[in-house]
Amino acid sequence: MRPHPTFTREQEQQMSSMPSDRRDVAAAPGTAAAPDATVATQAGTGHSMTVRGLDAYYGDDKAIKNVSIEYRANQVTAMIGPSGCGKSTLLRCLNRMHEEIPMARAEGSVLLDDTDIYGAGVDVVSVRQAIGMVFQKPNPFPTMSVFDNVAAGLKLNGVKGVDMKERVEKSLRGAGLWEEVKDRLSSPGIGLSGGQQQRLCIARTIAVEPRVVLMDEPCSALDPIATLKVEDLIHELKQEYTIVIVTHNMQQAARLADTTAFFLLGEKIEHAPTAQIFSNPTDSRTEQYVTGKFG
Ligand SMILES: Nc1ncnc2c1ncn2[C@@H]1O[C@H](COP(=O)(O)OP(=O)(O)O)[C@@H](O)[C@H]1O
Ligand SMILES: [Mg+2]
Repeated sequence: MRPHPTFTREQEQQMSSMPSDRRDVAAAPGTAAAPDATVATQAGTGHSMTVRGLDAYYGDDKAIKNVSIEYRANQVTAMIGPSGCGKSTLLRCLNRMHEEIPMARAEGSVLLDDTDIYGAGVDVVSVRQAIGMVFQKPNPFPTMSVFDNVAAGLKLNGVKGVDMKERVEKSLRGAGLWEEVKDRLSSPGIGLSGGQQQRLCIARTIAVEPRVVLMDEPCSALDPIATLKVEDLIHELKQEYTIVIVTHNMQQAARLADTTAFFLLGEKIEHAPTAQIFSNPTDSRTEQYVTGKFG
């Protein structure tokens, strides 16, 4: 069953990030089966991710080549590199969205704290609940109100037993949007400005109380003022979440990230404190990239 007849491609993508057996939960609450094993961990204590020897493929093409990298708890890690170097692919491997793409597969391990999210018996629902994703283009559900857009995150993940109104307000406050929308909660989400829509999508993502938030060029469709607002928000969010952000904007990486990783042709070239990557990188290819010599 398709979730809704009028979703755009981005929304389809967002929905397909939901596991297939939960895609119709919003329409039919209470029908989801209980997960067999979960990656649930203690909330609010800080969660790290560790990638070891990851290879990712599209058919026979290898897009990620033996990548190992650590994303530290309550830090912002930026991933930079020229278009096509595998940033989005790696990001999608971090919450098992990559495998939703036909012919795509990944090998290696990705740990959330001590649990391999690719381990046998791990429930993919719990993986995507623990590791949320915000996309490049704000993608609020077009027919839904501001309130329902945030509540949708909970419904799609089959979260039950929470006070919806309370959680929606908390999430909108967390996304720095509450004051701007509290009097228009029942208006359509798509009536908001682009920057507000992206913060609405962030509210939808944090509504399920993830441990890690993945962001794929979250500001690239926003104007400079909206961009700065989202950057301020990301800075706040790292108090509670571990953030991995893909950006093509070097200034943004420099402003936001504790550490920055540079990728080239599917390989991780260098990962270091952001100041070091921009002022004194170890690898000459990193230096050439950050000084604008290619890419
Ligand atoms: N859905 C897909 N099917 C086949 N190949 C893909 C797909 N998405 C990305 N690729 C390929 O994988 C490589 C990495 O792409 P991507 O992860 O999108 O890079 P980036 O986000 O750094 O621009 C590229 O060669 C790209 O063409
Ligand atoms: Mg990309």
